[in-house]
Amino acid sequence: MRSLIDILELTTAEIDELIAVAEDIIADPAKYAEACKGKILGTLFFEPSTRTRLSFTSAMMSLGGNVLGFSDSTSSSASKGESVADTVRMVSAYSDIIAMRHPKEGAPYVAAKAATVPIINAGDGGHFHPTQTLTDLLTIKRKKGSLHNLTIGLCGDLKFGRTVHSLIAAMSRYTGIKFVLIAPEELKLPGYVKYEFLGDGKIEYVETTDLEAAMPELDILYMTRVQQERFASHDEYLRLKDSYILTADKLHNAKPDLCIMHPLPRVNEISVKVDEDPRACYFEQAKNGRYIRMALILKLLAEKDQPDTPRAGEAMADIVCSNPRCITSTEQELPHMFRCVDEEHGIYRCAYCDQKAYPKKK
Ligand code: NCD
Repeated sequence: MRSLIDILELTTAEIDELIAVAEDIIADPAKYAEACKGKILGTLFFEPSTRTRLSFTSAMMSLGGNVLGFSDSTSSSASKGESVADTVRMVSAYSDIIAMRHPKEGAPYVAAKAATVPIINAGDGGHFHPTQTLTDLLTIKRKKGSLHNLTIGLCGDLKFGRTVHSLIAAMSRYTGIKFVLIAPEELKLPGYVKYEFLGDGKIEYVETTDLEAAMPELDILYMTRVQQERFASHDEYLRLKDSYILTADKLHNAKPDLCIMHPLPRVNEISVKVDEDPRACYFEQAKNGRYIRMALILKLLAEKDQPDTPRAGEAMADIVCSNPRCITSTEQELPHMFRCVDEEHGIYRCAYCDQKAYPKKK
């Protein structure tokens, strides 16, 4: 069963194909109006969402299919203590494909192992958000004509911003990409993202705190919201929430064909004045979400019988994942699984959330 948990489970050729199908849908939506007739999409949203859930719903409806699900975990049996695996096993019986968002990192991976239908990760904690990345790639392709040779500024909460992690993973496979990582010290990109996707001088990147100084070289500026819900301390959130606010005057030395993106929702990190700037692409970006999700649903349903890309990981008795946002922190029954990333130094990463894992304290 083929699912989509991490954007890298799709090859670049498959991403090109999804973009081509999405563009065909945009050009001729009527052609696809009955493509999923009789099929049901389950939307399991254990965490708030507007665009992702509604664009998935709209996507399935536009393909002639139906949708069932919940948009709030308190209205599901999760509130009674049901595990992710059990919930998904049930919903597999009621639907043909499932889009799932969960606050715990690795939850969609757990779901994919239990489900008998494809699972699409619609965002797991501060980890990954592959379908937002597909939306972003479609937007970049349509605006820039290519996914190569771009200087991409990522600004704001690079620590908890799952859209940023998946976008970096995806873009690191194209040629001529440079990342400018603009974040306060406390919200810098996590080690696993740097290690896995930018490591060993593979990809050019710089880290800075200065948005205005970075501006002139950027082809894309990807703004993000400071992810209030992931902070352990509310005071820390209050201190960091206004780190970057993009105002019209800060764009004075930007390229005339800069593409300003944001996965949305925005709080205040882009002033509404910027919406009038022709370089503001974020509402168009949100619109693209519907078409690329249509293409993805079509693909996964067509490839239902193909084997899934297995995530590397083995049970290790003497290693634990100490990430409080990992699904293994709440679902005690799950076997802890790890992959070794550096044999010489004995470094392991959790197969669910990708955070570094350490030997149990004796
Ligand atoms: C993003 C998310 O949920 O990670 N939103 C979205 O899906 N478009 C970004 C965010 O919530 O800040």
